[in-house]
Amino acid sequence: MLHKKKIFAFTILTFFVVVGMAAVKINQKERNLKVLPKDISDAKLDSIMQTYNIALGVKCNFCHVPMKNIPDSLDYYSDADPMKENARKMMVMVIDINKKNFNFYPEIRPEYLNTVTCKTCHRGEAFPPED
Ligand code: HEC
Ligand code: HEC
Repeated sequence: MLHKKKIFAFTILTFFVVVGMAAVKINQKERNLKVLPKDISDAKLDSIMQTYNIALGVKCNFCHVPMKNIPDSLDYYSDADPMKENARKMMVMVIDINKKNFNFYPEIRPEYLNTVTCKTCHRGEAFPPED
């Protein structure tokens, strides 16, 4: 009887440890994405972010704040820098412009899918030049 109880307790304990580990894992993977698809690959996300750096002539820290405890690393999840929200508005605008105004014949001319990009206006400047 006592033996059975011990096995039962051990099973319960194992269950919670496994659930706990899974929760940590999910938490690590969860992304704070409101415009881009949540299941985007790391490589795709990184290449999009690189295009922002080039289009605006900035570094990643233009939109992302440093980690509280590790100032050398950026906290990509955080929305503390208002530039990140500005950038989200720009992303929505660009998606909208392209959807409404271009790509009439996607089968024949798929290259017009992303006609307007950040670079179209910013041209390497965070604050777009006038002409
Ligand atoms: C012009 C602003 C801007 C710049 C510059 C920028 N990012 Fe971002 N980044 C964003 C925005 C906005 C989001 C959130 C997008 C969304 O909500 O869909 C984001 C999201 C991310 C995420 C996902 C965070 C999460 O919640 O998991 C990572 C990782 C990231 N950026 C890395 C980078 C890296 C690396 C660089 C430099 C190469 C960079 N970013 C440069 C605006 C920027
Ligand atoms: C149609 C032209 C246009 C396009 C396309 C565009 N932007 Fe902008 N963007 C602007 C202008 C103009 C401002 C300045 C607005 C202001 O200060 O009133 C601006 C401002 C910003 C800002 C705020 C910082 C600043 O410079 O004032 C960020 C961040 C930004 N853009 C990111 C992006 C990103 C990322 C993209 C691509 C997803 C993008 N923009 C596409 C015209 C554009």
